Amino acid sequence: MEGVIVVDHPLVQHKLTLMRDKNRSTKGFRQLLNEIGRLLCYEVTRDLPLEMVEIETPLTKMQAPRVAGKKLVLAPILRAGEGFLEGMLDLVPSARVAHIGLYRDPETLKAVEYYFKAPPDVAERLVIVLDPMLATANSAVAAIERLKARDVKDIRFVCLLAAPEGIKHLREAHPDVTIWTAAIDSHLNDHGYIVPGLGDAGDRIYGTK
Ligand code: PRP
Ligand code: URA
Repeated sequence: MEGVIVVDHPLVQHKLTLMRDKNRSTKGFRQLLNEIGRLLCYEVTRDLPLEMVEIETPLTKMQAPRVAGKKLVLAPILRAGEGFLEGMLDLVPSARVAHIGLYRDPETLKAVEYYFKAPPDVAERLVIVLDPMLATANSAVAAIERLKARDVKDIRFVCLLAAPEGIKHLREAHPDVTIWTAAIDSHLNDHGYIVPGLGDAGDRIYGTK
């Protein structure tokens, strides 16, 4: 599917299966999300440009590669995106963080913004938006609109699970934004939940239900 990368690495698939299990504890769920976050971060940063710099090893000078350009921005959609952040920061510890506070109105399923804080020069950086769940995509579309209103041009979206409806909506609204996901599930139910899915990600991460 154009613009969608399914990360089918066996470790990702195995950990996702453990997370879907309704008997998984809050602690286990959070830890697995952290671990998958690291693996997805590895995939989403796979094509970052490199530049050669001169360094000196204990033996000699050499030209060696390092990631070029400004530090990237990780942009979790609160709350559940925050669960992804820790694992990603393990791999990219100097990344900047933009917090995007959105919740889904349970009746209309529309995204309601309650917080936004990004680095002042966010427009000059690659921004990776994080949210474990892409359901209707109302949240992802609103988050990316908010970033584009700040002139951000280079945006990627990473989730754990996506519904076909959400992928279609996000690709139509923001065709320039590539999606990385560990799986594409069957459909959304009448309440906008992903089926078979894993339930409410925020509640499962934070033990609020
Ligand atoms: C969940 C999830 C996404 C959103 C996905 O958040 O973390 O942000 O729903 O649904 P959508 O694609 O239909 O917009 P929720 O609104 O439940 O808030 P929470 O993370 O604070 O629990
Ligand atoms: N948000 C969730 O946390 N889970 C879903 O299945 C859909 C939206």
